[in-house]
Parts: sequence; C-alpha cells; structure tokens
Amino acid sequence: MDIGIIGSGRMGGVLGTLWARQGHRVCFSYSRDLARLERLAVAVGGNARSGTPQEAAQFGEVVLLAVPWALALGVITQVAPLVAGKALLTCVIPWNEDRSGLAVGTDRSAAEEISRHLPSARIAEVLGALPDSLGWINGGRQRPAMFYCGYDPQAKAVAAQLIEDLNAEPIDAGCLHVARYLEPAAALLQHLAVGQGYGPEIGLQLVRPVD
Ligand SMILES: NC(=O)c1ccc[n+]([C@@H]2O[C@H](COP(=O)([O-])OP(=O)(O)OC[C@H]3O[C@@H](n4cnc5c(N)ncnc54)[C@H](OP(=O)(O)O)[C@@H]3O)[C@@H](O)[C@H]2O)c1
Repeated sequence: MDIGIIGSGRMGGVLGTLWARQGHRVCFSYSRDLARLERLAVAVGGNARSGTPQEAAQFGEVVLLAVPWALALGVITQVAPLVAGKALLTCVIPWNEDRSGLAVGTDRSAAEEISRHLPSARIAEVLGALPDSLGWINGGRQRPAMFYCGYDPQAKAVAAQLIEDLNAEPIDAGCLHVARYLEPAAALLQHLAVGQGYGPEIGLQLVRPVD
C-alpha cells in the first residue's frame, strides 16, 4: 500500500518505518524541521520518501494521522480535499496542553471530532500499542493488541491489515464512537509507561478463554 504519514514523530516515525520494512511505500510529513523528515526517509530506505502534509495525503491511498491533538484539526483542514474517499487512520490521543487530562471525552472523542471535520474521508482509529512495544515484539515472542474502530468497513479492513503488518494483534473494537473508550485506555497505557515507570515497551493483550 502507499501510506501517507502526517506526523512523523515517535508514533508516525515507528509505524511508517515498520510498514516500509513490510514492503509498503510511505511518505513521511509534518515537522518543524524538514531536514529531520528527509533523514528519516533516507534511514528507512527505498520505500520511504518525505514531503509536505499535502504531498503525503496525495501520495497515500491510506493516510495515518499521528500529530498532537492541539494541531490535529488544523492539519486535517489543510489536507481535506486530498483525503476524500481515502482511509484515514488516526492514533491521536486528545491530551490537553499540559497533559494533565484529556481535552475531549468521554461522551465524544478525538476520532469523532476528526471525522466531523473530514466527512468525506473513511476514518478509523488505531490505538493500543506504544511505538517502542512494536519494536521489540517484531523480534520477540509476544505481540501486543492494537484496537481499531470505525464505521467504514473498508477503512477497518485496512486498519486490521496494517496492524497485522506491525506484527500486533488487531482487535475490532466496534464503531467509531468506541474511540471514547479507546483514547482513555491508550492514555492509561502511556501513564503506566511513563508515570508508573513500567517503561515504553509495554503493551496490552486481550486475554480470553481458549477452547
Ligand atoms: N508516543 C506514543 O506512545 C503514542 C501512543 C499512542 C498514540 N500517540 C498519539 O500519537 C500522536 C503523535 O504522538 P507522538 O508521540 O508521535 O508525538 P511526537 O513524537 O511529538 O510527534 C509529533 C509530530 O508532529 C510534528 N509537529 C509537532 N509540532 C509541530 C508544529 N508546530 N508544526 C509542524 N509539525 C509539528 C513533529 O515534528 P517535529 O517534532 O520534528 O517538529 C512530529 O512529526 C499524538 O496524538 C499522541 O497522543 C502517541
């Protein structure tokens, strides 16, 4: 797949790198330092390039949005016509400015707000694995769960495939309004990693009875 990455920091950088290693083509975008994007693309190799958010949105048949919440609605406004009809995957957690809480929730979510601003795109949320957890599981024994939700079956199918390609376990969490629960759960995981000292490589698993 051709994947446009809008927001190429810890989350977008790692996901894009892993997808490129799986044979997808990625375009990294959105930084205050364009040289950093170029260095990232060069380090990833032949399947990666860098560009503006508009170029990434144009390039991708699927687009990942991985920017801080405070910037999310601004950047999607810039690319709205270019993502019409495309799957747009968001992993945005709506932290407030000082990260003391979530700016939206629990009767709405960042994913739903993004969908409201981009009614012509096919929105799905993908959340539940920290970027560093994806690094170690690729060579390891366990794989963390990554949850996805959305209204559009095609976007959800793309999300599930791309989660598989991260070697994480895709878990269908339901419709887009489930993002109201998913975003706080992802915030909990980040709190455990940083605030409680469990470290950035932790992940979640869905444990269920086996037959
Ligand atoms: N990190 C995690 O564990 C994790 C897990 C799940 C979800 N998330 C969510 O994923 C999203 C991205 O998180 P992240 O940890 O990847 O963040 P990050 O490392 O800070 O990356 C943010 C991206 O936005 C760019 N950016 C920031 N401010 C900008 C500005 N004013 N103008 C242009 N570009 C700007 C950064 O580029 P430069 O810094 O190069 O300017 C970078 O490409 C957030 O919504 C976060 O809540 C993160």
